[in-house]
Amino acid sequence: MREVKPMNVPAHLAIIMDGNGRWAKKRSMPRFMGHAEGAKSVRVITEECARLGIKYLTLYAFSTENWKRPEKEVSFLMGLLGRYLDSETETLLKNNVRLFTIGDISKLPAKVSRKLESVKEKTSKNSGLKLVLALNYGSKNEILSAVKKIAEKAASGALKPGKITEETITQNLFTASIPDPDLMIRTSGEFRISNFLLWQLAYTELYITNVLWPDFRKKELLSAIRSYNKRDRRYGGIKSK
Ligand code: FPP
Repeated sequence: MREVKPMNVPAHLAIIMDGNGRWAKKRSMPRFMGHAEGAKSVRVITEECARLGIKYLTLYAFSTENWKRPEKEVSFLMGLLGRYLDSETETLLKNNVRLFTIGDISKLPAKVSRKLESVKEKTSKNSGLKLVLALNYGSKNEILSAVKKIAEKAASGALKPGKITEETITQNLFTASIPDPDLMIRTSGEFRISNFLLWQLAYTELYITNVLWPDFRKKELLSAIRSYNKRDRRYGGIKSK
């Protein structure tokens, strides 16, 4: 397999991890087994991104809409996240990975949100890959909360409406300290953004693969990065020579 040169990797890779249920259905297994196998892909891809020198990896792990799923599935996903945090902290530390979250984690089960805070704190000195888990995350909700914060500043007189810029909005999103993604991968062949990073994806390169998330491993990641390497990013301008 051809290796990708570290300098050509995206600085920020974002992934919509889709297809866990279909992966299980294809094997006549219950849906939760697809999620369990999907958690293995999370481990493999995080380790590989750290090795490749990617700076930010944002994973869409649980959306504001995912609460609509059957209670049993939601509780399995929360338990899986808790077990992932228990078993992965050592590996995150070993690989110099720092954990961040975006989304309102205070609405997750208390045990899980406590574990998240603890792993964020334990990894806070790490200087390698920043792993950003989007949990109870929805982009419209994020933009709404930014608008409210900005409106409050304007109402109090701390900010003149005429001085509001794109940067003001960027700085009031959950992702304030995180650069926009360079590449966004969606697995399982769906051509949708699904309320993920709507503001931040404005000029992001998109890569959609039919591969289901539990099957998305090193080989598939390298194919996505090779495709990204062939893109000509013009940001609305014209082709550079
Ligand atoms: C989408 O597949 C996947 C999810 C909603 C959950 C993502 C969770 C994981 C990958 C595992 C746990 C995560 C961590 C960080 C440990 P789907 O269920 O919508 O699949 P389908 O469209 O085929 O039904």
